[in-house]
Amino acid sequence: MKHLISAGDLGRDDALLILDTAEELARVSERSIKKLPTLRGRTVVNLFFEDSTRTRISFEAAAKRLSADVINFSAKGSSVSKGESLKDTALTLEAMGADAVVIRHGASGAPHRLANWVRGSVVNAGDGTHEHPTQALLDAFSMRRRLGRLEGLKVAVVGDILHSRVARSNVLLLSALGAEVTLVAPPTLLPVAVENWPCQVSYDLDSVLPKSDVVMMLRVQLERQNAAFFPSAREYSRRYGLDRDRVAKLHDDAIVMHPGPMNRGMEISAEVADSPRSTIVEQVANGVTVRMAVLYLLLGGAIGGDVQ
Ligand code: NCD
Repeated sequence: MKHLISAGDLGRDDALLILDTAEELARVSERSIKKLPTLRGRTVVNLFFEDSTRTRISFEAAAKRLSADVINFSAKGSSVSKGESLKDTALTLEAMGADAVVIRHGASGAPHRLANWVRGSVVNAGDGTHEHPTQALLDAFSMRRRLGRLEGLKVAVVGDILHSRVARSNVLLLSALGAEVTLVAPPTLLPVAVENWPCQVSYDLDSVLPKSDVVMMLRVQLERQNAAFFPSAREYSRRYGLDRDRVAKLHDDAIVMHPGPMNRGMEISAEVADSPRSTIVEQVANGVTVRMAVLYLLLGGAIGGDVQ
């Protein structure tokens, strides 16, 4: 595997290799000295054209823990704001000898194009409303750590599916790993061809909750909404928000996830977000280990020896 652009490119074996490698690397993250020499002398460029907090920092921490040199590029304050194209930016990176380029871009398909222009590995850190494969990997990793398995797990993904690259990547990855996904949203926030996705669809959160092992709440992406997709924030919360009363419908071991950033009080109440069922903070920590595994495997570090 050279690039990671879509969760759909990962078969079950590839996905499990990444999760198992992350599990080994997690042990390193628990040590006081977190650094491994594996990617010494290699250069990872973080190319972020869209705002990000956790994903950018997470990739940076992951690359640094593997001793790679990290160059952070954000479009604001760069020549992109002077109109430089993605291709010219890519050629500049190429000239600087990037071994891996981690890209977040507002246009779906940008990482795919970039892969044609650079020699190094391309990792998709979120492209438009298309995909966010490392988020799906860290979500699967977090589920497996809490619940001990993925096969047969019932996962409800709830909210703004239409604008969510996290939802698509999760459906593709989780179905490959044998979990059963149900998307829950108002009809206006579901993509047109959703019936072709490998999952179930429901408009009724209350009926899905009692049979779910995992409830993944998604942010309502107001910045991508150019029309009224629901009557009001209050009405949205009333039907699709996860609050204490709804959580009471879950079985005892069920967990609550959210990729962040959250609209507290809209799709999830503060109380639920901070409750023991919530994996939100673990997801961030697991993100670093999973991204270490991805960089490690893509850049060809040999697992074994120095991970012990
Ligand atoms: C997500 C994203 O950017 O796609 N966040 C993330 O990467 N942690 C989801 C979102 O923006 O709501």
